[in-house]
Amino acid sequence: MDGTQIDPVTLEEDGLTVALPDGRRGYFNAWWLRDNCPSSFDAETRERTFDIFHHATTPRPAEAHIDEDALVVHWAGEHHVSRYPLAMLAAYAAGERRHDPADLPRRPWFADHYPDLTRVAHPTLHEDPAERRRLMEALLVEGVAIIGDMPDTDAALTRTAGLLGTIRPSFFGAYFDVRTHVKPTNLAYTSKALELHTDVPAEELAPGIQYLHCRRNSVAGGLNLFLDGTAVANDLREDDPEAFRLLSETEIPFYKEHDGIDMRARQRVIELDHNGAVSGVTISQHMADIFDLPQRLMDRYYPAFVKFGRMLQDEKYVMRFTLRAGECICFDNHRIVHGRAAYAATSGERHLRGTYTDRGELRGLYRALVSEGRFH
Ligand SMILES: [Fe+2]
Repeated sequence: MDGTQIDPVTLEEDGLTVALPDGRRGYFNAWWLRDNCPSSFDAETRERTFDIFHHATTPRPAEAHIDEDALVVHWAGEHHVSRYPLAMLAAYAAGERRHDPADLPRRPWFADHYPDLTRVAHPTLHEDPAERRRLMEALLVEGVAIIGDMPDTDAALTRTAGLLGTIRPSFFGAYFDVRTHVKPTNLAYTSKALELHTDVPAEELAPGIQYLHCRRNSVAGGLNLFLDGTAVANDLREDDPEAFRLLSETEIPFYKEHDGIDMRARQRVIELDHNGAVSGVTISQHMADIFDLPQRLMDRYYPAFVKFGRMLQDEKYVMRFTLRAGECICFDNHRIVHGRAAYAATSGERHLRGTYTDRGELRGLYRALVSEGRFH
């Protein structure tokens, strides 16, 4: 080899540098290479079967070269040869997060969103993977969708939620029923408004995806209120960066004492993702515990908290509509804030049956639906 050529593979103290197909040169640590030899993974279970903790010595390449579209490494002190596809190495060369097909850009929405809500029908959802994909994408991008043509059965909700994950119980149980029976004789009865909230922040990991299956709704009034918490938080970030910082960094306590249980968890009102973008909100005045923060911090926290709480009620954000019998609204419980307007009903019945699945499982099912993954 003459001196003007660069060797496609250069061994270094702790690893090696290799020429990648796109012309870049990538450095790879020897521990990382040894740990991630393609033979480390079981073809059937797709789990890692090689355990680097049991590797007695520090891995060192004795020799390495390019063979067609792969890097071949002969390891010192052991009878093991690794063959890495260059495409696999190229994906990790920059040290950036592995591409995530579920990492779809969120699209904030506002009060006028109702006509544009993603709608799918229960029967086709079960038959057509493309419709499941459309529903999943709506949940990832907009955080909300409506499933129509739901049969009037408990099983319908179980089957529907089962398409997007495993039923995820809360301390209220696997399902909950919101019923209002209004007796015609009880003319003075006024149903209270249900203030805007996300569900169950008193749990360490509040439920991820919420389903509300409307079985009966013949009461007058009682509009459903839904808003996109990320749209509000993004506006707060523009309008009052210090308030935004306080709400996204300070954990506040939530609680629920209920039937012999004392649930407590701390949450941030504004949740940020790994890019620093707003990915959700947590708000619940009926589960907010007495803030046990330093009182001097309260001088700054309360104005920010109240400002955000008032913004949530702004007409700009709140989508109002009536959920009809046979519809199931499903939404990201860490992003979509919901409530119900007060209503004075003189007749009718209202029954919503609800349950939850997990956010992470939705993303997992979505990835599997749209991509082949690294094992194919
Ligand atoms: Fe709720």
